[in-house]
Amino acid sequence: MNIPNPHVIVIFGASGDLTKRKLIPAIHQLFVNHLLPGSFAVLGVSRTELTDEEFRKRMMEFLPGNEETNTQFLNKIYYETIDYELQDDYNKMHNRLQNIRSLLNIPANYLFYLSTPPNLYNIVPEMLALADLNSQSDGFKRLIIEKPFGNNLASAISLNFSLLKNYEENQIYRIDHYLGKETVQNLMVTRFANGIFEPVWNRNFIERVEISSAESLGVEGRGGYYDNSGAMRDMVQNHLLQVVGMVAMEPPVVIEADAIRHEVMKVFQSLRPIKPEELQHQVIRGQYTASTIKGQLVPGYREESGVDPDSHTETFVAMKFYIDNWRWTGVPFFIRTGKKLPTRVTEIVIEFKPTPHHLFDKSGFDQHKSNQLIIRIQPDEGILLKFGMKEPGAGFRVNQVNMDFHYSSIADIQLPSAYERLLLDCLLGDATLFSRRDTVEAAWNFIQPILDAWANDSSIPIYGYPAGTWGPYQSDDLIDGEKTWRYPCKNLADDGLYCEL
Ligand code: BG6
Repeated sequence: MNIPNPHVIVIFGASGDLTKRKLIPAIHQLFVNHLLPGSFAVLGVSRTELTDEEFRKRMMEFLPGNEETNTQFLNKIYYETIDYELQDDYNKMHNRLQNIRSLLNIPANYLFYLSTPPNLYNIVPEMLALADLNSQSDGFKRLIIEKPFGNNLASAISLNFSLLKNYEENQIYRIDHYLGKETVQNLMVTRFANGIFEPVWNRNFIERVEISSAESLGVEGRGGYYDNSGAMRDMVQNHLLQVVGMVAMEPPVVIEADAIRHEVMKVFQSLRPIKPEELQHQVIRGQYTASTIKGQLVPGYREESGVDPDSHTETFVAMKFYIDNWRWTGVPFFIRTGKKLPTRVTEIVIEFKPTPHHLFDKSGFDQHKSNQLIIRIQPDEGILLKFGMKEPGAGFRVNQVNMDFHYSSIADIQLPSAYERLLLDCLLGDATLFSRRDTVEAAWNFIQPILDAWANDSSIPIYGYPAGTWGPYQSDDLIDGEKTWRYPCKNLADDGLYCEL
């Protein structure tokens, strides 16, 4: 296992939720697993006035385990108050960083993590550059930028332009935490390390591809942000399209950042644009309304705090689209995501074509109930294959059965959090699991016409769905014929009559 060179991680927006809930616990876990070098430090930076001790105390609450290890870890954490728009404060911060480095004998390797409100994504990198903290002559200087990367195509292009004035592309790490998920990376392994899948992974054998990411939670106090975003920007533009990239890409020549990102880019370039006249048949948007879940009254989206009571923001999107290339021509891809759905689950369903001749129809087997390969991203991470088997006994009665693998069955394996993996990769200079400039812009380019149509054409419906249901029933109409979405349960292999939600 490679260990990064000694470094300082500087977290901007350190008083926010992400720092205490995800970033510090991830760095702590890397420390506990001996994946960080002997010399490293973390400097939390934000507007809030705090001392090092006060900041450490706040972070302590979010660390599990051993008191002695936690104390060693917390001693490597420092804090600096800053006014983000004041150049003097960056110079002051630079001095502080130099002091910390000389105390701990760390060269000028810096990872700057922007976990601030997005309106600062232009300002902080520019100010860092003015304080001479972008030059790599004396050590690496890398930027991690949290989502949202732009609010539309134009702002994403302009943000890229502004960053690239002072930084090289290989210094910029646009984070998409879905790419940090173990099971998303395993997609590449499933496809390219096994001789059995790749030969059938194309239009000749696959009838359709379905990707669902359901959440049972609502906006959870983030109404102000979410109401200006919506499910298309919040989940589809980034996480789900990146998953599409992994499912649909050609085999990369090598497992290296650019080789993989070239292939993802080729998929995005092949996405067939959805025309205005196709929109209502290919994209369904919804918003949850009040309902009763397990006897509890649950408010509708418009009643959430921070949300406009007349809001037209979508909390659910289902869409159908095509990838016009050699491998996928004619195969529909379906994407679905929403808040306040019955359960939290993200999975990919590869539905294979049925056999050409239906030998067992007479025995009551619906041969259109074809083979499905289900790749579960979360929870109960694993893989499920559905196929027909003969019922023991006379005749030829066929039943659909499951063959399933669960990550939890690999003893002693704890899946690392996405942030652990991504922070470590960035410290090692490996950008494979980060979005490149062109892929981010291409993803925006695909969804921008849909967002524009929604904003400008008030005749496009937004369907209500009661909180706790699978979204508007109109989303079923996207799929032709008798077939519907797979309605997954918490446990990968549970289906049929019984379903634990
Ligand atoms: C975030 C979105 O990027 O991803 C949230 O802003 C969403 O709205 C979250 O809840 C989902 O991530 P996960 O890892 O829980 O599937």
